[in-house]
Amino acid sequence: MPRAVELAPSLLAADAGRLNEAVRLVRAAGVRYLHLDVMDGDFVPPISYGAQVAADIREAAAGLTLIAHLMVARPERFIADFAAAGADVITVHAEATPHLRRAVDEVRAAGKRAGVALNPATPLGALEYVWDALDFVLIMTVNPGYGGQKLIGACLAKVAAARAAADARADDPVLVEVDGGVKLDNIAAVAAAGADVIVAGSAVFGAPDPARALAELQAALRTA
Ligand code: DX5
Ligand code: ZN
Repeated sequence: MPRAVELAPSLLAADAGRLNEAVRLVRAAGVRYLHLDVMDGDFVPPISYGAQVAADIREAAAGLTLIAHLMVARPERFIADFAAAGADVITVHAEATPHLRRAVDEVRAAGKRAGVALNPATPLGALEYVWDALDFVLIMTVNPGYGGQKLIGACLAKVAAARAAADARADDPVLVEVDGGVKLDNIAAVAAAGADVIVAGSAVFGAPDPARALAELQAALRTA
């Protein structure tokens, strides 16, 4: 059976004053995942939103798997907050803490699924001693911090390597998520490289008709 590849729309490019409207649009499209980009002005330059925003969209996002992508320094400081806010998956950056294993174990101990994100220059080997505690590996295909950047093609080799590593651990499933610069014209290549979950921000909410853009991305995935 072919691997099911799913979209995770990111709200980052949506109007921050009307987030619940954006969430309802995502839900109406029949998508399973919602990706929330949390930025602290330290690990990455901008500040986006915090756990309160996750809590405030939780109701509109009922039934969606809410992935918190924590682009924050020392993410272990915020795990309890995002767990309480209703995030289903809490993703920390390998580069953001000297205690990656502790952070991942804390996510699991909070009853949530754990993800680790890797910046473009971070090798897959950074995950060597945490694979057993992971539910998601998030391969960044842009340098985190901003939506609307161009996908870094060289990162697709890392997606393929993550796919192979995940397949080699079939008894302990890990999903490969890809984030950054995905558009209608490259989503098939990202799927082919081995993604299970593909984030799309500006391709959806930067489009003049986000519902239509979402439908087009979904259609592209169905034929990928
Ligand atoms: C990058 C974020 C991404 C990004 C997605 O810092 O983690 O989720 O905003 O936006 P696009 O799809 O526009 O690259
Ligand atoms: Zn993200």
